[in-house]
Amino acid sequence: MPNRPSSPASVIRRRRWVRTALLAACLPAAVMGTAAEGSTSGLLPVPRSVQEGAGPLMAVGPMRVIWSGYRNALLTRAVARFSGRVAGETGAAGHPSGAPIPLIIDCAFDDAAFLTLEQKEGYRLVVDASGIRLHAEGAEGILQGLATLEQDIVATPDGPRIAPISVDDAPRFHWRGVMIDVARHFMSLASLKRQIDAMAQVKLNVLHLHLSDNEGFRVESRLYPRLQTVGSHGQFYTQDEVRDLVRYARDRGVRIVPEFDVPGHTLAMLTAYPEYASGPLAGANYLSAMNSALNPADPATFAFLDRLFGEMADLFPDRYFHVGGDEVTGTHWSENPSIQAFAKQNGFTGKVELEGYFHRRLAELLRRRGRIVMGWEEIRVGLKDPATLVQTWRGSGSIAKATAAGQPVIVSAGYYLDLLEPAVAAYRVDPEDPAASGMSPEEASAARKNPIFGPRLVDEMIRNPALTLTQAQKGLIRGGEAALWSELVTDEMLDQRLWPRAAAVAERLWSPAEVVDPADLERRLEIRQTRLRRSGLLDEVHRRAMIARLAPGDEGTVETLLEAVAPVRNHAHNHLLRGLINFRPASPQTFDQLADIAAPDSFAGWRFERAVTALTGGDRTAAARIRTDLLRWRDNETAFRTAAQRNPALTDAVPVAVDIAELSRQGLEALDAIEQGRALTAEGSSRADALLQRQTVANRASATMIAGLTAPRQPPADVLITIAPAIQQLISAASKR
Ligand code: ACM
Repeated sequence: MPNRPSSPASVIRRRRWVRTALLAACLPAAVMGTAAEGSTSGLLPVPRSVQEGAGPLMAVGPMRVIWSGYRNALLTRAVARFSGRVAGETGAAGHPSGAPIPLIIDCAFDDAAFLTLEQKEGYRLVVDASGIRLHAEGAEGILQGLATLEQDIVATPDGPRIAPISVDDAPRFHWRGVMIDVARHFMSLASLKRQIDAMAQVKLNVLHLHLSDNEGFRVESRLYPRLQTVGSHGQFYTQDEVRDLVRYARDRGVRIVPEFDVPGHTLAMLTAYPEYASGPLAGANYLSAMNSALNPADPATFAFLDRLFGEMADLFPDRYFHVGGDEVTGTHWSENPSIQAFAKQNGFTGKVELEGYFHRRLAELLRRRGRIVMGWEEIRVGLKDPATLVQTWRGSGSIAKATAAGQPVIVSAGYYLDLLEPAVAAYRVDPEDPAASGMSPEEASAARKNPIFGPRLVDEMIRNPALTLTQAQKGLIRGGEAALWSELVTDEMLDQRLWPRAAAVAERLWSPAEVVDPADLERRLEIRQTRLRRSGLLDEVHRRAMIARLAPGDEGTVETLLEAVAPVRNHAHNHLLRGLINFRPASPQTFDQLADIAAPDSFAGWRFERAVTALTGGDRTAAARIRTDLLRWRDNETAFRTAAQRNPALTDAVPVAVDIAELSRQGLEALDAIEQGRALTAEGSSRADALLQRQTVANRASATMIAGLTAPRQPPADVLITIAPAIQQLISAASKR
């Protein structure tokens, strides 16, 4: 066990110890060092094996690239990008000693499987006094090694430095993705490119685009142009833009997997081409639109899909083609006499068999075009064969079902970032745990009683702790994807809703299963987010713009309030859906309110929590930081009230500012008691209890999906006060004295 470092500088200087990822996972956060940017203590995802080398840090300046082994234009461009970013970090001064650092790039092979699921991943990286050596079996590994090398650049008071390091790295899973829904809200090409840049830096390698849904069809079709002229509201990617995006992603080692969701989720497609519909299209709302579906009884439907998907497959070269397949209600099928006659003729007894028929026919067409079919877990009703890749979403139990039938799996259950759970929630979900995610029995029982949820409830949604996987089943898990549905995510909000949480999923999918320390994850996520911003991520820039629009002239007080809150979770902020599910008019929804700006995780909140944990663990030096935070939050109430008088959009949040101030007062009392070595008075303690109890009730109203959608009320401004648990911790510590 190394000596405990006392400052970032000493973390950097004292690097004579060896650490593997597994050991790192067992170390308490404090031993891992404070936020020394770069160095192995800042790496994310944590590599399979890391040794921090002996010897001094090296100044970062120009690098002399020495190619050894295979080289191609893609690698040349990647190294140029890397060098450009390093130059950006070093500034104009360049290398102080003037001697360029040799960077040997040794790519063993031209990997014929490059940018497929079978490609060679992983690398070895050594940084020492003699220079930098990066070895990989294929191009993807070189890209991954460069990402680690970039993270190994340490900010020091004397400027950026590279830490001596030896890394032997490879991923736990080969499919490490992000799913972005560009149908509900269209995302610009520039925004997608920014996400690809960020993905590559944390070794995510699949961008799955959900390109069509009830709300829009987002790719130009030359064969069926009404898809964009009628079905996209003018928001779609031209074919040239798709090719550009695919090239851009490929250059960064990222595959693009297209999803065109059928036979349900097709209102936009069917509005453009109603001849393939099963029922009426007009007047659908968000929920009833789920009833629209392609007509499986009409051979013309398959001719349409064959031509359309053929055109799309030519645009998206990845071997995997995602056909959606989720949430088919079957309502229009059962109401359509010709579809019912067709079903009878074929001996189909219901929706599920029709669905199965649809998917088998479609799969045949795609396989003829050399594509591997993938879909959301419902496609298993028709495709139970090992050639179909199944993406779980309703609950982790689906992993057990699909793999028991020999099917390969991509895990998304537990990784739905649109549910606005904090980063650690997704981080805790292991892809090999079939009981990791799903409804509790209590939640399922509440759902069963609901007229909308009840009929949709299936076993797969309910967590079953008894489920286990055999080694063979585990071997069928190809990886996972963080999923971001965009009903409540605009282009402007994309960066902030994806990051840093997508990086938490990246680590879960890359690093050894034993790397699980949530506090250490949070520490490193903040380091990485800062770096991602320097290389182009716009979460902070967009957040500031949104705040400036919401409360011009009062940005500071809004920023301070946002440090202490998060948006309500689990669709509770979706006014339209809450209205429909509770059979009442939806309250207005815009995408520029506090709850839209508030992040699911607050870095200031994390720092506060860490300081409280340190103090209650005996580190008295943490008290000053805690006091500064609490005073800032306490004193923000007056400023916020004044701001709300000028900016009515803040009015709803005044009670939040009041509660934060009151909680902060209670926290300060507790802090005083701790510092003075006395117990908190019983009166102070009971006032705090009532306030904390209110936060518990507020949290409960969106703690589950069913609560989020059916609880009669959500807290003011649809935000939760996330500093409450740390204040509770402080009060408990003070009360025990
Ligand atoms: C899904 O969330 N309907 C795949």
